[in-house]
Amino acid sequence: MLSQQTRETVKATVPVLVEHGETITTHFYKTLFADYPDLKNIFNAKNQAQGQQPRALAHAVLAAAQNIDDWSVLQGTVELVAHKHRSLQVKPEHYPIVGEYLLRAIKDVLGDAATDDIITAWGETYGALAQVFIDAEKALYEETEQQQGGWEGFQPFLVSKIIRESEEVTTFEVDPIHTNTVASFTPGQYITVRVKAEEGGYWANRHYSLTSLSGDSSYRFSVKKEQKGDVSQYLHDNVKVGDKIELSAPAGTFAIDMESNEPIVFIGGGVGATPLFAMLQAIKLHDPNHSVTWIQTARSLQVMAFKGQVESLVAEMPNANAVFGISDATTPMDESVSFTGHITKELLERFLPEGEFNVALCGPVAMIGHVSQLLGEIGVPESRIFTEQFGPMEPIGV
Ligand SMILES: Cc1cc2nc3c(=O)[nH]c(=O)nc-3n(C[C@H](O)[C@H](O)[C@H](O)COP(=O)(O)OP(=O)(O)OC[C@H]3O[C@@H](n4cnc5c(N)ncnc54)[C@H](O)[C@@H]3O)c2cc1C
Ligand code: HEM
Repeated sequence: MLSQQTRETVKATVPVLVEHGETITTHFYKTLFADYPDLKNIFNAKNQAQGQQPRALAHAVLAAAQNIDDWSVLQGTVELVAHKHRSLQVKPEHYPIVGEYLLRAIKDVLGDAATDDIITAWGETYGALAQVFIDAEKALYEETEQQQGGWEGFQPFLVSKIIRESEEVTTFEVDPIHTNTVASFTPGQYITVRVKAEEGGYWANRHYSLTSLSGDSSYRFSVKKEQKGDVSQYLHDNVKVGDKIELSAPAGTFAIDMESNEPIVFIGGGVGATPLFAMLQAIKLHDPNHSVTWIQTARSLQVMAFKGQVESLVAEMPNANAVFGISDATTPMDESVSFTGHITKELLERFLPEGEFNVALCGPVAMIGHVSQLLGEIGVPESRIFTEQFGPMEPIGV
């Protein structure tokens, strides 16, 4: 339990840390990696270089400070981060190291303004916050390892099929080697792949949403080849049927309530359709009569993944319909394209069902922001919009 004095000190320093948050976390990563280079096997070097990760950490710590009197409001964030940490094998012994370098960075950046009282208060707060994560992660590690077909850490899987879904997206089917079954998962969850894209280099970890059905004997995940993307290029260009790749067990909090009878709207942009495709398959299996609206956009028909499969699934679901939009109207089209350009309010009003419904939304960060705003404008409550970002999360609460 943090003392009143500690809470007051931490709250009083939030504004100055908001101002310097990213400088502090950038400095923190630099000094941390200089002394603990092995941690580069866990962290994503690109997210460091492009600043998303320092931003995500700064915002999480500051949100915790701002809400220091009631951390229950951060529960959703804690769960999301705990899943990511578990998938990347962040362990309790890492927390004191991160804490030491974070406090040191606060001191270095703030200089004399970081008095002993301030450092002590932040040290106590970090310790309490770390314990929240350690406890949440302990439960996840136990759950994963005890689950049938579950496993600890990263395990090699055999690539058994490679399927080209579109000009940019390829599906990898992988079979377990360490066990006969694979752990079940909820549609929307991801596995984490780690590869050494450079000979002798560090492990690079990336998350990929599962596109298979839970209960299948293998996993499938679908990868967009990103220009200059280390791991997606490696998977597309180097990995062949018969190769082994290492995976950590399914994780993630993006989910839909399969038991609810309420209509579901899926809105997917680009490769963001992947977790939604898993959800659609699961819904069809669970209740083929469920009311479903599928709205998928991509730059062109050539790069759009899963379209044929979605059309087939929806054709067998009497209360489901699917529409497809292409953002680049100069690319070749056919009559299956319902709209061109970006999603607008008018389009949503045209395609969305009557009454109340839940929305599962995934795509580029800008699209998630834009569509969430439009949904809000037409009266869809925030609590009914479920999203997944394919990168470190954007600022929360600060
Ligand atoms: C929960 C979750 C689920 C995900 N699910 C999927 C999924 O199902 N399918 C999928 O394809 N992806 C998914 N992703 C994204 C995936 O994890 C990777 O981030 C993605 O494959 C890019 O990794 P990379 O190593 O290829 O790119 P990185 O090397 O990490 O590069 C990241 C981005 O930066 C750009 N970039 C890199 N270098 C430069 C440079 N020098 N100059 C300018 N730009 C540059 C790249 O084009 C790329 O867009 C998911 C992410 C999360 C967090
Ligand atoms: C209380 C302490 C911590 C907080 C508040 C915190 C917070 C966060 C947040 C907000 C993210 C972004 C989640 C996302 O992807 O959306 C994240 C990711 C991550 N965290 Fe932590 N974290 C803490 C401790 C640690 C520790 C001890 C480690 C291990 C050394 C660690 C390693 C990572 C890694 C590897 C990622 C993925 C980021 C990437 O490389 O892209 N974190 N954390």
